[in-house]
Amino acid sequence: MSLDARERLIVALDVPSTAEAEALVARLGESVKFYKIGYQLAFAGGLSLASALITAGKQIFLDLKLHDIGNTVVKGVESIAQLGATFLTVHAYPQTMKAAVEGRRASKLRLLAVTVLTSYDDADLAAAGYELNVKELAAARAEQARDIGVDGLVCSAEEVTNLRKIVGRSMVLVTPGIRPAGSAQGDQKRIMTPTQAITAGADYLVVGRPVVEARDPKAAADAIVIEIEQATKS
Ligand code: C5P
Repeated sequence: MSLDARERLIVALDVPSTAEAEALVARLGESVKFYKIGYQLAFAGGLSLASALITAGKQIFLDLKLHDIGNTVVKGVESIAQLGATFLTVHAYPQTMKAAVEGRRASKLRLLAVTVLTSYDDADLAAAGYELNVKELAAARAEQARDIGVDGLVCSAEEVTNLRKIVGRSMVLVTPGIRPAGSAQGDQKRIMTPTQAITAGADYLVVGRPVVEARDPKAAADAIVIEIEQATKS
C-alpha cells in the first residue's frame, strides 16, 4: 500500500460536542488528515461537522456500524455516500453488507465490515444464540465480506495476520486498540503499538485517547506518524 504515513493515522473524535471537536481539529491542524466520527459525536451534530471537515479537505470515517433491513441500509448508505465520507462501518451480516455495497455504488465511499465486536467473547456469542466461537465467526464473516465486495475490515491488530490470509491485499485492514509505548491502556484489552500494528500489516490505525487526551495532541499525533513512517521503512 503506497499511502503516505500521515494518511494512515485516523484520529477518533470521541468528544461530546462539535465545539470540542472543532477545537481539537484546529489544534491538530495539518498533523491529522483523517478523522473518525462515532455514535457520540454523530448524534450531537457530528454529521454536519463531517461535511464541513470534508469541505476543508479532511477525510472522514463514519463509524456508524449500520445494520437493518436491506432496503433501509441501501438508502442510508446512499445518503452517506453523498456526504463525501471515505469510510463507513456496517455489521458483517451478509444481507447488510450486500445492501451497503448496492448503496455505495460508484461513489468514493469505502465500506468497512465489523466482523465480531471486540467486547464479545465466546460466552457472549453463545448467549446471543451463535454456535461458532469468536475466531470462527470472525473468519467466516471476513470471507463473506470479501466475496460480497466490501472494501475492508475493522479488526484488532492481533487479528491482522490471520485476516490478511483470508482477504489478501484486496481489502484494507483498519485497527483500533493502538497505544504508543508508555501511554495509558484505558479499557482496551488487546493493544499494540503503532510499530507492531504496521509491521503486522495494518493499513490504517485508529487512535483516540492517546491523541485526544494528550497534553499536546499535535505532538502526540506527529510522534505516531513518525512511528508509522519508520515501521513502514523497516
Ligand atoms: O481511545 P481509543 O484509542 O481506545 O479509541 C479507539 C476508537 O476505536 C474508539 O472510537 C472506539 O470506539 C473504536 N473501536 C474500538 N474497537 C473496535 C472498534 C472501534 O476501539 N473494535
